[in-house]
Amino acid sequence: MRLILLGAPGAGKGTQAARICEHYGIPQISTGDMLRAAVKAGTPLGLAAKKIMDAGELVSDDIIIGLVKERLEKPDCKNGFLFDGFPRTIPQAEALVKAGIPIDDVVEIAVPDEVILERMSGRRVHVASGRTYHVKFNPPKVEGVDDVTGEPLIQRPDDKEETVKKRLEVYHTQTEALVGFYQSLVAKGDSKTKYIKIDGVGDVNEVSRRIFDALDR
Ligand code: AP5
Ligand code: ZN
Repeated sequence: MRLILLGAPGAGKGTQAARICEHYGIPQISTGDMLRAAVKAGTPLGLAAKKIMDAGELVSDDIIIGLVKERLEKPDCKNGFLFDGFPRTIPQAEALVKAGIPIDDVVEIAVPDEVILERMSGRRVHVASGRTYHVKFNPPKVEGVDDVTGEPLIQRPDDKEETVKKRLEVYHTQTEALVGFYQSLVAKGDSKTKYIKIDGVGDVNEVSRRIFDALDR
């Protein structure tokens, strides 16, 4: 199974990706998590990406496409994968088509901007695993601590209100066009891809149920 999760920052891609990947036994390929790992490791890529991410802008298509191609060569991608936060621009989506990488389902999680601002301000993450919590909507068992490792949770530096507003603007100007890109690919009938739009408002379990219902159909 090869999936793309589309959606604005804070729509719940990471939260739902973890559940979908566990259910179908496929790896979660989050370009955001990969970049944060590079920042943490202090690699040249991480140093360059940090400034861009903290400003809420997008890292260059060439870098991202290179990262994803390298990741897809790992053996765990043999039976499928889920892209979380990729593709994010038309050139990134075209690179997948050009590379002949077929996609079974594109799942769009739709959430209005007002709901997103509240979700981002309460988000807490475990950096090493990418596990995501929310102080109110999805709290860890012990406040401020990851459920699995017991390590501390942090607030992402790009979750400051001003940066979230910038990220939403970037989403609307550069990423939202992918909705039309994939819908027209499906409409042309030259692709086996299915396009699924999910209402992302509601609690985490409810949104998961909607996604699994649509994928199993
Ligand atoms: P990335 O890490 O991909 O961030 P994003 O797309 O902005 O998405 P988020 O991770 O912020 O949100 P999410 O949809 O995963 O929501 P989550 O599940 O965490 O990218 C970060 C940066 O890296 C980019 O800005 C860019 O600079 C760079 N980058 C990454 N990929 C790139 C690419 N392909 N090209 C170029 N640059 C790239 O949920 C959010 C919060 O809400 C959590 O607290 C969660 O607990 C809570 N929540 C989730 N679901 C619900 C629900 N149903 N009800 C209530 N609360 C909920
Ligand atoms: Zn995410």
